[in-house]
Amino acid sequence: MSKQEMIVRHKLFDRLCHWTIVVVGLVTFFTGFSFFYPSFQWLGGIVGTPQLAKVMHPFFGIAMCLLLGLMLIRYYHHNKWDKFDWPWMKAVVWVLLQKEENIPPVGHYNPGQKMLFRSFVIFVIAFIVTGVIMWQPYFAPMFEASTVNWATLIHAACAILMLIAIVVHFWMATWIEGSITGMLYGKVSKAWARKHHPAMLDDFKEEEK
Ligand code: HEM
Repeated sequence: MSKQEMIVRHKLFDRLCHWTIVVVGLVTFFTGFSFFYPSFQWLGGIVGTPQLAKVMHPFFGIAMCLLLGLMLIRYYHHNKWDKFDWPWMKAVVWVLLQKEENIPPVGHYNPGQKMLFRSFVIFVIAFIVTGVIMWQPYFAPMFEASTVNWATLIHAACAILMLIAIVVHFWMATWIEGSITGMLYGKVSKAWARKHHPAMLDDFKEEEK
């Protein structure tokens, strides 16, 4: 195989952050969903017992939100809506049909990824606010019962929506060959960038100056 020219897409710190979020997030989701229905209780087994799941869930949740919040701050500049995004949105049918010759160029992230990014921002804020309000025995007693009930409902709804967002994120990551390798080792080939995120190469040239 010919040696390809590689460029950095994800720095080591961001990769460590991302994969820690995946592990911490798995524990948070498993323990959280174990409270949904009695038949899901076994999911809490990831930390040992249902009682331990109740205690651990808020701490893992806070760790997930803080790390994700940090990553979102670091990736904010890549996720600003720019001139490439509307043309790409209008051609989204070609994206789904994988007719690459009809897909307009995009920058570091495509609008699909940028929308998921925005949904993660909303989830982080919603989980922290509602999670604190419903946290027994520390904070929940400070709020009225109806406030805690609303917080619980929003928290649970966000958990389901975030699960859907993560399934979409996972699907997008596996759909584009080379994307996961990029998040694992940090580098992608220039050919990959030219194919999937051509305008990213302009940013790269700017950084090189
Ligand atoms: C096993 C599951 C996961 C896989 C395989 C995966 C894979 C990836 C890949 C390949 C990228 C880079 C995409 C690119 O370079 O274009 C990425 C970015 C990212 N991932 Fe994941 N991911 C997973 C789970 C998660 C979870 C659970 C979260 C947080 C809830 C998350 C948050 C992010 C964020 C914030 C980015 C940056 C995207 C942006 O800035 O728009 N990922 N992921």
